[in-house]
Amino acid sequence: MASFPSGATIVTTNDSDGRWWGFTASSFCSVSMDPPLVLTCLASTAECFPAFTEAHRWNIHVLQHRHADLAMRFATRGAAKFDGAGFQPDTDGLPFLKDVSISLRCTAYSKVDGGDHLVLIGRVDEVGLGEEMPFVYFRRKFHSLPVTEEKPGALRTGASLPVVIELDLGWM
Ligand SMILES: Cc1cc2nc3c(=O)[nH]c(=O)nc-3n(C[C@H](O)[C@H](O)[C@H](O)COP(=O)(O)O)c2cc1C
Repeated sequence: MASFPSGATIVTTNDSDGRWWGFTASSFCSVSMDPPLVLTCLASTAECFPAFTEAHRWNIHVLQHRHADLAMRFATRGAAKFDGAGFQPDTDGLPFLKDVSISLRCTAYSKVDGGDHLVLIGRVDEVGLGEEMPFVYFRRKFHSLPVTEEKPGALRTGASLPVVIELDLGWM
């Protein structure tokens, strides 16, 4: 799956004590337009797994180039993930990060057994669109997208995606 390009997101929630939880996820995609549903998959071994098992709401943040370090932090078990990271409580008290490429505030729609992962299907209540392009996770590296505006139909040759960070994780 590392050879399938995707974005990278940070998915956040809180537990019944109000403690914030979150993890980096590349398993993010659209499920349905009506109702608007998106999914993400969480490993059952994750420390945040119990919080998401109980969660009624979560937020999904599609990351930009400058969030590479944050993506790594949220992929690190036991890290002080929210310290100084700029998250603010949303109207429901969940951690919310402004200035990402896309933010989705979700209500739990369904949670489906996905083998050693839990498939979290959320109904999208609110979408925020940022100015900057998301980055791409591909073959265990983060790549930035070219930012130049191109004319429709124009053929671009020799385009390359500059590498930002090479990952050293076991994640597929
Ligand atoms: C780019 C990237 C994408 C990831 N995507 C997922 C994912 O979709 N699902 C998942 O369960 N873990 C994914 N991980 C791994 C988790 O972010 C990591 O295991 C995290 O620490 C789990 O949360 P925890 O700290 O609460 O255990 C990904 C890691 C990276 C670096």
